Order: sequence, then C-alpha cells, then structure tokens
Amino acid sequence: MADPIISIRNLHKWYSGVHALKDISLDIYPNEALGLIGDNGAGKSTLINILSGVQREDEGEVLIEGEKVHISNPRDAMRLGIETIYQYNSMVPTMSIARNMFIGREPLKFAIGGIGVMDLGQMRRESVKAIADVDLHLRSPDALVGELSGGQRQGVAIARAMHFKSKVMILDEPTNHLSVKETKKVIGFVRSLKEQNVTGIFISHNMHHVFECCDRVVAMARGEIVLDKRIGETSIEEVQEVL
Ligand SMILES: Nc1ncnc2c1ncn2[C@@H]1O[C@H](COP(=O)(O)OP(=O)(O)O)[C@@H](O)[C@H]1O
Ligand SMILES: [Mg+2]
Repeated sequence: MADPIISIRNLHKWYSGVHALKDISLDIYPNEALGLIGDNGAGKSTLINILSGVQREDEGEVLIEGEKVHISNPRDAMRLGIETIYQYNSMVPTMSIARNMFIGREPLKFAIGGIGVMDLGQMRRESVKAIADVDLHLRSPDALVGELSGGQRQGVAIARAMHFKSKVMILDEPTNHLSVKETKKVIGFVRSLKEQNVTGIFISHNMHHVFECCDRVVAMARGEIVLDKRIGETSIEEVQEVL
C-alpha cells in the first residue's frame, strides 16, 4: 500500500467543557474516497476543520506526505493542496462567478506604471473552462453567485477546487440542501475524483450516499472513531450498529 497522503496522530480538541475529539488517529491514502460518517455532534466537522485550517488542534499532529505541517488558516490548507467544500459554501453572493472562482488568488495584469490590476478577462476565460470541466452548465461567468441554486453554487465551489488542482478535496455535508438530481451529481463527482488523482473526504450522515461513492468508511461517535473499514467489507447495517 502507498504511504498515506494525510496522517492524523493523536488529535484532541476541547471546546470549554466538550471533549470534541478524543485521541483521533487516522491515515488517509492517496486517491481514496473516504466517507466520514456519524451523528450530529460526533466531531466530523471539527476533525476536518483542523485539516482545512478553520480550527486548531489542542493536541496531536497532522502530517502531509510524511511531513509534519502547521495548518493555521485556510490559506495554509490551500497551499498544501487541501480544498474544502462546505455545506453552506464560502462564496460571496454579491460577486460574479468569475470573481468567486478566484477569491484570494486573483491573477494580476500590470497597467502603466507597474500597478497590478485584477485580470478580469483571464478570470472570466478560466472560469468558463473550469465550469465546463466539471460538466456544469451556467449561462455566464458574470452571473452573480447569489442568483444560483444551491447545487449550482456547490458546482462552482467544486470547479474552483478542481481548477486549482487540489490534492485533497474535503466535502462537508455537501448534499444537505440539494435536490435529488443535484445530489446525484455530487456523488458522481466524488466517485470520479480518483481518476483525477484527487483524494476525497466525503462527510455525510447519509449512509447510502457514502456507500455509493466511497472506498472506505470511517464512523465517528462522541469524538472517537468507532469503525474503519473498506466499503466492500462492511454494510450499512454494521455501520449503523456502532453509531
Ligand atoms: N465552535 C464550537 N464551539 C463550541 N463547541 C463546538 C464548536 N464546534 C463544535 N462544537 C461541539 O463539538 C462537538 C462536535 O461537533 P462537530 O464537530 O460539529 O460534529 P459533527 O460535524 O459530527 O456534527 C459537538 O458537541 C459540538 O457541539
Ligand atoms: Mg458537521
């Protein structure tokens, strides 16, 4: 088996009285699609928020490709190739699709006098391509994100992550507010990640979704990992039993 792309070692997180992560250790392998499952409050989001730089661990460490890393903020995570798609994703509704695609990473062109200005033309062109690449059909890169459906927004976030060639894509309950059709699309997308050499971490409390698109299932309950199996070696019933 290949070396892990992410190694989580002895992670602890406390929120005042709550011990949200209790000595979590987990190895995630290149190009696998890992389903992270558990009831509300199990600690799933806390765990992935540490990987995406939204929260800091209190104890323990994270290694990326064998190197110890400090993920202090979302920008560090991005630099390490970790992109996260949230349930309510982090886009600015009053800005266009093209602007949202490049938030924090705007390409510049240099005007007279050497003043850097955003290259909106490049942003528009690359957005159109990135969106087409994830098989999303949107009218124009100038449409405002606030005018899109939940599924379309999720699609733009996914296109953005793919465009910036993330190594690891984390999806935290990405299907919560989506229609059946949009949900199918996200599931198909998770399944296709490995062909593009992307490791996926798919968080859901829908067992069926995880069994449809993941290679492995990790179940959490009360801040601990209570099951970790290949999809082919377990069943929905067995996972339900331990939650
Ligand atoms: N920002 C926070 N402040 C205080 N407590 C939190 C915070 N985030 C999560 N928790 C608590 O930590 C535990 C794990 O929550 P969370 O990681 O969101 O679980 P999940 O994503 O599995 O539903 C819960 O008891 C939750 O109430
Ligand atoms: Mg959560």
